[in-house]
Amino acid sequence: MVRPLGILAGLAFVAILVFSAITGAISYISEPPAPTAEHEYHLHPKPLHLASDGPLGHYDRQQLQRGFQVYKEVCSACHSLHQVAFRDLTEIGFSEPEVKAIATQWAIEVPSVNPETGEAATRKATPADKFPDPYANETAARAANNNALPPDLSLMAKARHGGPEYIHSLITGYQTQPAELIKKFPDAKTPPSLHYNPYFANLNVAMPPPLVADGQVTYGDGTKATVDQMATDVSAFLLWAAEPKLENRHRTGVAVVIFLLIATALGFLAYRNVWAGQKH
Ligand code: HEC
Repeated sequence: MVRPLGILAGLAFVAILVFSAITGAISYISEPPAPTAEHEYHLHPKPLHLASDGPLGHYDRQQLQRGFQVYKEVCSACHSLHQVAFRDLTEIGFSEPEVKAIATQWAIEVPSVNPETGEAATRKATPADKFPDPYANETAARAANNNALPPDLSLMAKARHGGPEYIHSLITGYQTQPAELIKKFPDAKTPPSLHYNPYFANLNVAMPPPLVADGQVTYGDGTKATVDQMATDVSAFLLWAAEPKLENRHRTGVAVVIFLLIATALGFLAYRNVWAGQKH
């Protein structure tokens, strides 16, 4: 008795599924969803070539240092970098005295407590500190940015599809909104406090263009600081911040492939040896 009932219940479920699939398809065809501005104007990131690309890629330390300079002089005014400590900068080629100088001269001090009075105070950063937040808290961050919150950039290169390509395209992708877009989708007109950027998911980003002029930073290594160069360098730096062990991963990958090749050859020779006396 239970079995026929079970079969009946199963058939009823299948019938409901088939029915909803068919009615869904019919309504999709008869009334297709209205096109949206995002759907038509959103762009995929432009290709970006970095030294760390590919299974054998290495970071270009010089480029990471330039990217750090862009973060320090431009982005750090609004964006935190919670997960990175000053001493991590030795990994991109800064010496320990240089790191110490960068930490003590950082524009924002680290929250601390006055040991005499127990009251809240600030102190100069040390190499062991993480990069201090530019704002005291989220409310202060929003108050300074038209109610938008500049996200932490530590893992940004991993958090967005396209990673460094996306960051580079976003920073260099600000445009005036196409007139035809406004004509077609009057509701999608960029509000005055936002900025049109076809690489941002909903086309209107709260971040004002951070890199606006060539030479906005002055590189110590003589590289010409075009907007594109600065955007490429800071994207490379943020990739390092999000994945500092990338080179280890690449090295281990190569070692594992070599090991597997040797193991395969040895396995094959052992097989030949074991079966040498046997007729196949
Ligand atoms: C004046 C403050 C300000 C500066 C300077 C600034 N940003 Fe932003 N940034 C913002 C705000 C605000 C947002 C949030 C935008 C939103 O949600 O619409 C943001 C968002 C972002 C995002 C995330 C976009 C997303 O997909 O959510 C990235 C990446 C980014 N900024 C990178 C940078 C880089 C790199 C620099 C330095 C070259 C920089 N920003 C400088 C304010 C700033």
